[in-house]
Amino acid sequence: MLRELSRQRIEDLRRQLEYHNQRYYVRSSPEISDHQFDALMKELEQLEAEWPEFARADSPTRRVGSDLATPPGQGSQSFVQVAHRYPMLSLGNTYSEEEIRDFAQRVERVLQAPCRYVCELKYDGVSVSLTYTRGELVQAVTRGDGTRGDDVTANVRTIRNIPHRLHGNFPPELEIRGEVLMSRKVFDALNARREDVGEAPFANPRNAASGSLKLQNPEEVAQRHLDAYLYYLPGPGLFGDSHHEQLMRAASWGLPVPERYRKICPSLEDVFAFIAHWARERRDLPFDIDGIVIKVDSLSQQQQLGFTAKTPRWAIAYKFPAEQARTRLLSVSYQVGRTGAITPVANLEPVPLGGTVVKRASLHNADQMALLDVHLNDIVLVEKGGEIIPKITGVLSEVRRPDAALPEFPKVCPECGTTLVRQEEEAAWYCPNDSGCPPQIKGRIVHFIGRRAMNIDSLGEGKVELLFDKGLVHQPGDLYRLRYEDLLGLEKILEGEEGRVRKIGFREKTVENILAGIRTSLNIPFDRVLFALGIRYVGETTARKLAAHFRSLDALQAASFEELLCVDEVGERIARSVLHFMEQPRNQQMMGMLRDAGVQMALPSGDSEAMIAYGKPVPRSNVLGGSSFVVSGVFTIPRDDLKALIEWFGGRNTGSISASTGYVLAGDKMGPEKFKKAQSLNIPIISEQEFRDMTGV
Ligand code: IVH
Repeated sequence: MLRELSRQRIEDLRRQLEYHNQRYYVRSSPEISDHQFDALMKELEQLEAEWPEFARADSPTRRVGSDLATPPGQGSQSFVQVAHRYPMLSLGNTYSEEEIRDFAQRVERVLQAPCRYVCELKYDGVSVSLTYTRGELVQAVTRGDGTRGDDVTANVRTIRNIPHRLHGNFPPELEIRGEVLMSRKVFDALNARREDVGEAPFANPRNAASGSLKLQNPEEVAQRHLDAYLYYLPGPGLFGDSHHEQLMRAASWGLPVPERYRKICPSLEDVFAFIAHWARERRDLPFDIDGIVIKVDSLSQQQQLGFTAKTPRWAIAYKFPAEQARTRLLSVSYQVGRTGAITPVANLEPVPLGGTVVKRASLHNADQMALLDVHLNDIVLVEKGGEIIPKITGVLSEVRRPDAALPEFPKVCPECGTTLVRQEEEAAWYCPNDSGCPPQIKGRIVHFIGRRAMNIDSLGEGKVELLFDKGLVHQPGDLYRLRYEDLLGLEKILEGEEGRVRKIGFREKTVENILAGIRTSLNIPFDRVLFALGIRYVGETTARKLAAHFRSLDALQAASFEELLCVDEVGERIARSVLHFMEQPRNQQMMGMLRDAGVQMALPSGDSEAMIAYGKPVPRSNVLGGSSFVVSGVFTIPRDDLKALIEWFGGRNTGSISASTGYVLAGDKMGPEKFKKAQSLNIPIISEQEFRDMTGV
């Protein structure tokens, strides 16, 4: 029983960690704080240690998070991926003096000798590895999955403090790693601009830096004014035996390795003093740090200590506690989301926290409010995680005024007055008036046009609001009926925070862009259309699985509960939600309008699941002209899918390499024998990316 429960929990934790890794590294939009993430990771590590039979090589505890722009099976690739010469690892985390002492004890037990440490700032940005050949910056690669990363050289060349050329007595070949980040000042200005044009602001400078580094246009990246700080030279030491010494040399070649952010610490007491110093002074830094990195200075000792699969044994990170502030709760407002869920939001006496002034914080739901036992006028503790909106984590009930009242959770929707309902096992209250409640209607349209849905980026939240207010768009189907003359000249004044006002008006160019964006969305493949419909609990992955299984909206609409349950990852909750959605006359009418407009309601006939694996239905063709392929190694999509793609494009699959083999398609961990044979027969060995370039997927 306990064994089964532990197994389930392990799986659940792995799923959660994968998901949050994705949000953090790929989407640059985390939902939980680093601390919450670390707590989940720690729980998983402990369970895996207790139950070694459930250990798996691909568990998040053994892999570093991946920032690759295109996770397996999603969308087209935007950067060339490059293998790292030395893996880019992560660091173990600690949160207390005691844990640092444990680290030092482990280190000294292995070394059997005293050692000195170097302490550095833990820059809160995106890691990159730079290569200089003969003093020339030739490559910059992100961490990726630790073994392969995205080649972002052109973008990194726009970073002002990264030299394109080294000077002085530099080595002929140099690899150096560090962090790309955005200063708080640049971040604030960027977010203000984004809000002005109706774009979603970034949650924090780290996400802004990561989003900027992944932009496709280096000129845009240049305008983001990123900075970089470097801290590590992987591989065998270039000279001497000291990490600190190497960094000093790197600085002498013109690289950004500021000495003031680093200190040699001969004793642990010096380490603690460095931590205490920066815990106080970090606010005055122009950029965010999330802790201190403690490294063994001697390179030979580092070598002696070595690495685990994920982290070096010679370094550790100390993470600062989550930033907290105290302030007064003035009132609670209730927001209605796209699904009708009501979120209580605390309005606070403005308080500075982690570089910004906080005025609002999430209270999540009625249960959470009850759990906190929060009263109006209470002094509350506010914490900032990775999210835009900070959250309330505690209440100082001992200083509560005797007459303090409990905030009253509304019985009716604050937007449309409908009586709220709550479903069993759900924490949130909902407004059931999904067809008439304005924020729900607008929210569904905003979701529909979203980047990962129909990608109509010529419309944004503000414009949708205007179209809704003018009675032009009430549901996604209405978008496809908009005419030039309906839109031209529309305008609205929007009021933002702190009385900032902005006017949106539709002039010729805007209208043309909007209509072009809507037209282009007719090419969006069916799986994304399905996601865009906004069926509750049907996220991107589920939408893809449903599309792959049923292949058309007609088939999905005709599916029974049992048939839905046959789809991978679809459980009762999702199946019920799909059935409920399909039954609603309002939704049927909307889907009918979308179909009439020409939106993709099926996968192209004969389209294979492999196409969906790459998120891109492409017409069958004969571009491979009958060439024979041998596929070997591990790829970003299942090997069978890759083989299906070869046939889809007119190639043939064969099992072994011979003189008549056209190409060897080589993935990670390709067998060395095959590699040698292909080389000896002079057969071209191509990568997955080269294959994709050949076929255009
Ligand atoms: S050393 C082999 N030093 O923190 C280990 N990392 O949480 C090399 N980071 O992946 C990393 N500041 O992206 C090192 N002074 C510093 C750092 C630092 C920030 C990042 C780095 C690393 C992550 C681990």
